[in-house]
Amino acid sequence: MIHADLSGKTVLVTGAASGIGFATAELFAKNGATVAINDLPGNPRLQQAVEQLQTQGLQVIAAPGDAGSAADARAMVEKAIEDLGGLNYLVNNAGTPGTNKPIPPNDMASQDEAFWQKLLSVNLLGPWRCTEAAVPALKERAGAIVNNASIAGIFGNGSSSTYAATKAALINMTKEHARAFGPDIRVNAIAPGVVESDWECRFDRTEQMLASIPMKRSGVPADYAEAIFFLCAGGAYISGHTLVVDGGLTAGPSANHTA
Ligand SMILES: NC(=O)c1ccc[n+]([C@@H]2O[C@H](COP(=O)([O-])OP(=O)(O)OC[C@H]3O[C@@H](n4cnc5c(N)ncnc54)[C@H](O)[C@@H]3O)[C@@H](O)[C@H]2O)c1
Repeated sequence: MIHADLSGKTVLVTGAASGIGFATAELFAKNGATVAINDLPGNPRLQQAVEQLQTQGLQVIAAPGDAGSAADARAMVEKAIEDLGGLNYLVNNAGTPGTNKPIPPNDMASQDEAFWQKLLSVNLLGPWRCTEAAVPALKERAGAIVNNASIAGIFGNGSSSTYAATKAALINMTKEHARAFGPDIRVNAIAPGVVESDWECRFDRTEQMLASIPMKRSGVPADYAEAIFFLCAGGAYISGHTLVVDGGLTAGPSANHTA
């Protein structure tokens, strides 16, 4: 695990009551940063997450708000920045598959107008809203943004075509925002592969599937948090980049084949 002295730095992580977001909040806080933990206002795990980290003596505050709501997202970011006294890093991690089982690409009925609107609003407009609200504060501190995309945004084949499209757009927006906000703010993304988390969509992960990953295991939230941490605390000349973090899953056919 990499380390940096982030004393005096502040970070807002969206969707941080569980999974990758929580691991990211924990990693930043353990390295001295003060962290605003965002999640849905009605999610009891938000307060639990804050208390769990505060009990360890870490500096974290709650920042409830729905990234999928225009009014809520901007108000949440503005309040978090006020409470934190400024902002060094924004991690746009909140996302939703909108389904508890994968939807085949040809199942158009399940991917209706309401489904598209929901996924676009949380996965794409959410990061856009939070970014827009955070940019003035981030500029003051020459900060950084990391968006949490997915390998589905590069290769497709995630929980649904709709989800893949929103993540592809997020990767593209990452590049556009790097051009828009440089040199003051660096903007990057990560593209996770297989994640062990409480993600709403459950995939059938066979031993054979996991064995096809060069690292021979699924990724744990800390694996992804470390990549986000690097792109914020390090990577001074990296902007507009999407870092694939998938244990080699999309690197191509295994070198161990016998054919
Ligand atoms: N789990 C996977 O297989 C996988 C793969 C690739 C990318 N990702 C991405 O990683 C990110 C985190 O996922 P995770 O695996 O840690 O899942 P998770 O379910 O453990 O965490 C997601 C968190 O986001 C919160 N959230 C959802 N909608 C929100 C909203 N509108 N506003 C605020 N918070 C909201 C949830 O309540 C939850 O706490 C997501 O953006 C997801 O798209 C996940």
